[in-house]
Amino acid sequence: MQSVKLNDGNKIPAVGFGVFLIENNGPTYDAVKNALKAGYRHIDTAAAYFNEADVGKAVKESGIAREEIFITSKLWLQDHGYEAAKKAVDVSLQNLGMEYMDLYLIHQPYGDVLGAWRALEEAKQAGKIKSIGVSNMTPKIYSELVPQFSTLPAVNQVECNPTFQQKELRSLMDKDSVKLEAWYPLGHGNRELLTNPAIVEMAHKYSKNAGQIILRFEVQEGFIVLPKSTNAERIAGNINIFDFELTTDEMEKIRAMDTGKGSHNPDAPGVAEYLLQNFKVHD
Ligand code: A2P
Repeated sequence: MQSVKLNDGNKIPAVGFGVFLIENNGPTYDAVKNALKAGYRHIDTAAAYFNEADVGKAVKESGIAREEIFITSKLWLQDHGYEAAKKAVDVSLQNLGMEYMDLYLIHQPYGDVLGAWRALEEAKQAGKIKSIGVSNMTPKIYSELVPQFSTLPAVNQVECNPTFQQKELRSLMDKDSVKLEAWYPLGHGNRELLTNPAIVEMAHKYSKNAGQIILRFEVQEGFIVLPKSTNAERIAGNINIFDFELTTDEMEKIRAMDTGKGSHNPDAPGVAEYLLQNFKVHD
């Protein structure tokens, strides 16, 4: 598996397995166990996915050395602010049953992000987290908050796929060598994208499926991708993208599919309130 070098010197596998909306107490355990068996070495969870415990259990019982698996979790919005975030890091570690996390992100960029960031910086210093980053930062939010941080985030995990290529955000992040992690890398199964004639043609040429072509494009662009699938064959196929390379022309063809629009707008009013009302990690 190819990995990507972060601006703090750490390395992250270019493809990760995400467990959003998979239940704890069994389903997440099974999914992570199967993903590890298929060769994934990067698991992406969050406090607000409510399944850190199953992730930890599957990793522990896999028999694979802890340091060979890259584990990401995320701080929930309720725990923004310095003191709350410090506690939340320990709760995530406890849930995972781990001594450290490879990456911990500020899941949503609202409220006291600066206080939360200081807590993450300290947890990194203390060895509880190897790398720290942010998520769902638009160009507007990134430009407002990141210049106030005393250390740069290693990544910004955002919605990104061929129809929403985050070009403006990437030019800001590139200046800081902040890597983009893509959620919804397949456009959440967008049929139009997966049946796009140019992509289908490339799939035939390389004997791959459309999803693999899209993921390959993204990895060649330098993104870290978190594809979702419930199908064992596609789960295994989505990491099998390192034995071919798209040409410059093919890359350009996919670059031209950008519409500049995604399914979620973190700049919209009321997003923080909605999230706080709908996801509670504690009382
Ligand atoms: P399935 O679970 O049946 O594989 P995203 O990661 O952007 O959220 O997209 C997830 C969606 O893409 C799911 O509906 C998933 O369906 C589908 N998907 C996952 N991998 C592939 C692939 N290699 N080719 C086509 N569709 C895929």
